Amino acid sequence: MATVAIVYHSGYGHTAALADEIAAGVKRAGGIAEIVKLEGAEQDFTAALEAVTKADAVIFGSPTYMGDVSVPMRAFFVASSKIWFTGGWKDKLAAGFTVGATFGGNKDHTLGSMWVLAMQHGMIWAGPGVPNAQINRNTDAGTNLPNRIGSALGVVTQADNAAPDVTPPEGDREFARLLGERIAKLAAKLK
Ligand SMILES: Cc1cc2nc3c(=O)[nH]c(=O)nc-3n(C[C@H](O)[C@H](O)[C@H](O)COP(=O)(O)O)c2cc1C
Repeated sequence: MATVAIVYHSGYGHTAALADEIAAGVKRAGGIAEIVKLEGAEQDFTAALEAVTKADAVIFGSPTYMGDVSVPMRAFFVASSKIWFTGGWKDKLAAGFTVGATFGGNKDHTLGSMWVLAMQHGMIWAGPGVPNAQINRNTDAGTNLPNRIGSALGVVTQADNAAPDVTPPEGDREFARLLGERIAKLAAKLK
């Protein structure tokens, strides 16, 4: 049984809702999900860093703010340089998820920041492995289908300007669960 740390920051609750869905996916695959919420850039990151070190895999989650990870997530990444010196995250499985208000919104860049961080640590990056939703995007928003936006690097979702219990839609939530499921299964295989 694999332990998956889900480390995320969320300013307004949408990334938090997705973190819960990812945890549900991890559990669906028989894994143990450890959710670690980052509160702010000035916090002490020791416990969060330790949670990743102890876990078999990590899934990073951040809203896309101005085309990149949020400031608390960036601060956490910088704090992880302590671990980089020891090689403590080397060969650990890593993945990522994000949410933005628009369909494009430069959200791939947010995932790219997570990916580069993982590569700096010598981690093994895994995408969701979910094919693009087969929809006619001119006529069908595909909100009940996973991967409606079409992302291979990680889970990319979209939330309207409404409360996190109504947006992102069900398809995006299932996409998040599928990532949790996949990472838990892959981590168990690697163990
Ligand atoms: C400062 C700021 C910058 C944002 N920049 C982007 C952006 O570059 N692309 C995008 O698609 N959405 C952008 N958004 C929208 C948020 O990503 C969206 O509201 C998301 O649901 C917030 O997630 P959270 O509730 O976990 O904080 C931005 C929001 C804020 C507050």
